[in-house]
Amino acid sequence: MLVFGGTGDLALHKLLPALYYLHRAGRLHAETRIIALARSPHTRSAFQALAERNCRAHVAREDFDNETWARFAERLDYLAMDASQSADFGRLSKHLGDDPERVRIYYLATSPALFEDIASHLKIAGLAGPKARIVLEKPIGHSLESARAINASIGAVFDESRVFRIDHYLGKETVQNLMALRFANALFEPVWRAGHIEYVQISVCETLGVENRGSYYEQAGAMRDMVQNHLLQLLCLVAMEAPVRFDAEAVRNEKVKILEALKPISGLDVQDKTVRGQYTAGKIGGQEVPAYYFEKNVDNDSDTETFVAVQAEIDNWRWAGVPFYLRTGKRMARKTSEIVIQFKPVPHQLFGGSEANRLLIRLQPEERISLQLMGKSPGKGMHLQPVELDLNLANAFNKQRRWDAYERLLLDVIEGDSTLFMRRDEVEAAWAWVDPIISGWHQHYQSPRPYPAGTNGPEQVNNLLERYGRQWLD
Ligand code: BG6
Repeated sequence: MLVFGGTGDLALHKLLPALYYLHRAGRLHAETRIIALARSPHTRSAFQALAERNCRAHVAREDFDNETWARFAERLDYLAMDASQSADFGRLSKHLGDDPERVRIYYLATSPALFEDIASHLKIAGLAGPKARIVLEKPIGHSLESARAINASIGAVFDESRVFRIDHYLGKETVQNLMALRFANALFEPVWRAGHIEYVQISVCETLGVENRGSYYEQAGAMRDMVQNHLLQLLCLVAMEAPVRFDAEAVRNEKVKILEALKPISGLDVQDKTVRGQYTAGKIGGQEVPAYYFEKNVDNDSDTETFVAVQAEIDNWRWAGVPFYLRTGKRMARKTSEIVIQFKPVPHQLFGGSEANRLLIRLQPEERISLQLMGKSPGKGMHLQPVELDLNLANAFNKQRRWDAYERLLLDVIEGDSTLFMRRDEVEAAWAWVDPIISGWHQHYQSPRPYPAGTNGPEQVNNLLERYGRQWLD
């Protein structure tokens, strides 16, 4: 496995710890080698030390032991190279030696601006044989046009079955549980539709700011960083029809249909259906944090959004008229990722005070699925109150260690299973919906609304729902 961007945060904080866990669980082939590639002139042992420091920090203390580490470290190697320089791929080829039987996985943990160069340089150097696979980190491009160009140049070197476009949300256990909930239980299917569901809310709220990623984030913003991929993927899993088989083509065919059915939001619609925000100074967990425009590598008069809310709609038979409220932001009050399915109220209020049922699927911080039902409170009279039917997944499965999303997805790449990866047309359909929103913001000069760090986003976000007598379900 060759990791381009091998000394970046993603490689050090996520990929190497995930590979350590796979090694520890005996899931890596005895001869698997992991080669980090980056420009800094590290020696192999300096890189091993860097990797160790990071794995110690990102692997649970009870799971890290020196003996396992020593064996894992033997797999690690480092090569200093510049991925934009074709000549450096000749050196890479020599370094790898000539073994056409080896499966090579190229993991591009780099800026998407380098994807096209890397693919063509691999081809010229003879490193993209039929056994080679390529993994692309999101975002794939920054618009439909750039995504198409990347997909075309990757496609000229690797056929689609060997391209793994990663969206780590699909590797999260609860996200996969959402498919189990929907397609392994008959209970929900009859009510999983417009006639019974009032609205759906998908929120991914973070307390973190942009950390060291200011220069990337300035070009991306919350729409490209989160909505185009993670939130739309969650929406697809909630809304898609049951695939005929659980395999890569069948699952992805159903997801694409949903993306293609998203009602376009463009021009002036953006004023009604979207809210952009940007955090100002505030407090997170009692600590003062600076405004976004004072973060490292961020412009003082930055117009980048760190918060987005969108009212999406799906124009198909099952979902016509049901709003899907999407919301994501940095530096918010709490870290939570959850999906709420709000059912319609009972058609006739027999007792009064009855609230409509609600299904909560929480991905973070804890993995939980709970259904809010109405129950009678003890005593005389029919006084109702909401009670929760609660499935705490960690307890249900004997507190087994939950795999990190990257562990699951890296193993899928190794095994060649692309069910949980985004297909080319899926990525492009997502951009086709996102692009007009971004250009609508620019055409109508919708600059982001300020919100203090540590809050639930700009005030205007409540209007999206309140005008229909609804509210965000926190
Ligand atoms: C990444 C985004 O894809 O997802 C980050 O680039 C974001 O900005 C992260 O912080 C959130 O992932 P998770 O798994 O912590 O919810």
